[in-house]
Order: sequence, then C-alpha cells, then structure tokens
Amino acid sequence: MPEWRIVVGSDDAGFDYKEIIKRDLEGNAAVTSVADVGVTADGHTNYPAVATAAAEMVARGDADRAILICGTGLGVAIAANKVKGIRAVTAHDSFSVERSILSNDAQILCMGQRVVGIEQARRNVREWLGYVFDPSSASNDKVREICSYEGV
Ligand code: RB5
Repeated sequence: MPEWRIVVGSDDAGFDYKEIIKRDLEGNAAVTSVADVGVTADGHTNYPAVATAAAEMVARGDADRAILICGTGLGVAIAANKVKGIRAVTAHDSFSVERSILSNDAQILCMGQRVVGIEQARRNVREWLGYVFDPSSASNDKVREICSYEGV
C-alpha cells in the first residue's frame, strides 16, 4: 500500500471542506503525515499565498502531495501551478481524479467548496490516495514533455 505525506490548504471559502478532509486524511492508514498551511478558523489569507506555500512544500520534497480547497478549486490550481515542477489540477469527479494521477502525474488535487458536495469531495480524496502514476506507461512521455518545457 502506498504511504503519503500530505499537505492541505484553503482560503476562507474552502475552510470547512479543508478541515473535514484533513480529519479524513489523519484517520487514513495510507497517510503518514498531514501538514496544514492554513487558513485557520479566523484566518483570512488569500488563496494564492496558501496554494504556493503548499506547492513549495511538494516541490521541495517536504510533502508528496497536496489537497487545496477554495471556492471553485480554480484559483488555488492556477497559483500552485506557478511553482516550478508542480502539476496541480481542479477535479470534482472520480474519472478526472483518476486521470489526474494516471495520465498527468499531478501532485496536487484542487476542489471547490462551492462546486462539489462534501461526500463526493471526500470520496475523491480517498480514491486519489489509491492511485500511483506508472512511469512505464504511455503517459510518461507526455508528462516528461511538460517537465522539459518547464526545465525540470
Ligand atoms: C473567494 O476569494 C474565491 O474567489 C476563491 O475562493 C476562489 O474560488 C478563487 O478561485
């Protein structure tokens, strides 16, 4: 079974889902650690700072993957993708969540608290933890192409 060090983050608009998903992750046997880059219950950090902080942890190797929540899941993905080496996606359905790993080797899953129901969001995270990118798959060349464009 894979083991994951996960970082979670959200802005105010994603705080409730971030807290629920954090608790799920802390109770998941496949997760060895959960870091939280905010926001806190009374925090008001905008989504770009939270998303880039989480993405930098992944890029440095301090975490394997990240979950980011904002209102739509869009802003956090745009911001996280500015960090070199990061592939962050917004996905709200099972199939896209699966492909984000198996096709795209994305390290960060972003979701929108104003878009998807909490039970689907929780299911997405559970399923996401079970997928591992296969570097011998046909998808690897395409992911390498992205990395080479970026110079990583
Ligand atoms: C609120 O700031 C909202 O714009 C944000 O949570 C997010 O949806 C942006 O993409």
